[in-house]
This record gives sequence, C-alpha cells and structure tokens, in this order.
Amino acid sequence: MMIETITILGGCSKSGDPEPVKEVNLKKGDVVSIVGPTGSGKTMLINDIELFASGDTPTKRRVLINGDEVLEEIRNNPHKNPIARITQHTTFLSDLPVCDFLELHAKIRQDGERYLIKKTLDLANQLSGENILLSSRMTELSGGQTRALLIADAVVIGNTPIILLDEVENAGIYKDRALKILRGYQKMMVFVTHDPVITLFSDFRIVMRNGAMEKVIKTTEEEKKAAEEVKRVDNLLMDLREKIRSGETIELKEVVV
Ligand SMILES: Nc1ncnc2c1ncn2[C@@H]1O[C@H](COP(=O)(O)OP(=O)(O)OP(=O)(O)O)[C@@H](O)[C@H]1O
Ligand SMILES: [Mg+2]
Repeated sequence: MMIETITILGGCSKSGDPEPVKEVNLKKGDVVSIVGPTGSGKTMLINDIELFASGDTPTKRRVLINGDEVLEEIRNNPHKNPIARITQHTTFLSDLPVCDFLELHAKIRQDGERYLIKKTLDLANQLSGENILLSSRMTELSGGQTRALLIADAVVIGNTPIILLDEVENAGIYKDRALKILRGYQKMMVFVTHDPVITLFSDFRIVMRNGAMEKVIKTTEEEKKAAEEVKRVDNLLMDLREKIRSGETIELKEVVV
C-alpha cells in the first residue's frame, strides 16, 4: 500500500477537554517536529501515531492512513507495519558486527540483497560524524553512530514510509545534512525535539500543552533564514566536539563566528 498521507484527528487533553487542534495532516516528504514542555504529551502523541490509535488510547485520538481507518491487519502485523521508531535508549540484545546485523535485517526484510548493506552503511556514514565500519561491533558504536545506523537501516533496508524519532538529536549527527538527505527519500519524518536546527528545518511543528495539540506552527520564511545561521553554529560545535575527542587543540580563530 502506498502511504500518501497520515491524518491525526484530535481527541482530548489530560483534563479531558477537546484538543484545540482538531486535525493534522502529514504528507509524504514532510518533516514535522513535536515540541512542548516536559509532561505535555509529546511521547504520547508519537505513541498514538505508532499504534495508529483509533480512539482506544487515553487521548482518544484517531490516526488515519490516506484518509481511512487503519486495518487491524496493518496494526497488528510487524511485517506490514509502515513505521520505524528510533529512541534515545537503544540497546542491542546481541553483540554482532555491524555487517552481520545489517545482513540479518536485509534477509528478513528484502531477501538478502547484498548491495543494501553497502547502501545502508554509506547513508549511516553520511549522517554520522564518526565513520562506522562493517566490522565494528554493534555494542561498541557511539550514541551518534548507533542512531545514524538505525535511521539508515529504517530508511534503506526497512524501507518504511514513516519514521518517528523521540529526542534523538543530542550528538554525533549532522542534523541539517541528515534532514536534507532524508527528505530526498520522501519519508514522513516526525521528531520529538527541543533542538532549534531540527525544529527550524521542519515544515511545521505541533506545540503540545497539557496532553493536547495546542497549535500547529508552519515554519515562517524568517525562521527558515534563521535556520541557516543556527545550523552554522551547530556544525561548529559538532566539529569542535570531534576535534576535542580526537585529542586536538582548539584555536580562538576557529570559534569566532
Ligand atoms: N491527552 C492525554 N490524556 C491522558 N493522559 C495523557 C495525555 N497526554 C499525555 N498523557 C500522559 O501524561 C504523561 C506525560 O506525557 P508524555 O510522556 O507524553 O510527555 P512528554 O511531553 O513526552 O514529556 P517529556 O518531555 O518529559 O518526555 C504520560 O503519563 C502520558 O500517558
Ligand atoms: Mg517524552
């Protein structure tokens, strides 16, 4: 099934009032951020999307694909699930080398096409600041490498049309570059984030409060310009982190922007 749109129909807030936002539509290729204070319901919203809620979660939201209710068959069958979710707290159950992990997944998802492994690793290395080797062990990857690998795996091997990321931005990923590349794959990407780069490079953001979608802000032209400046600062910090990590010294002229 081709997924062109996802529709979130508002339910109720934590206090049981109707949500101010009644409907949000995501299209193929959209990058969306969910923002809001701690406890405001960001993770809950992403859970609703992941589950294709049909009025059966505490929020009473409903999530539609291409305007229709989602079939039980899709909700319950992991092979048909069009959603990949990547979280901060990924731990691996086995200590396979990256190569074996990707091969295993490629076999399950797409009949073991070997070129997919190379394609996935190449994408992961475009996203991550630190190079990943096929011989690296999964449990030895840094947080940034792990997330880059899982995102690349979801995009290339999993080939899922919808990718949900719950606060994954903290380190080791060139965010603006990642967003640009991922946009090229025409996925729907939903980020729970406090990160200004990710938020300002999104098409729109959903602002949460008290468990409800309070408003939707479409990224303004001015914000898009600001995003370019914020990105420069962010990439500078990322490069500094890499230099410090590899034992280099920093010169003043490198950090004067
Ligand atoms: N609309 C709602 N109705 C009922 N309970 C809700 C609703 N939205 C959120 N909750 C509950 O409120 C609590 C906080 O929500 P959630 O964990 O989604 O917040 P968060 O924004 O992700 O917070 P954090 O930034 O700390 O991760 C959870 O226990 C969740 O189940
Ligand atoms: Mg949360």
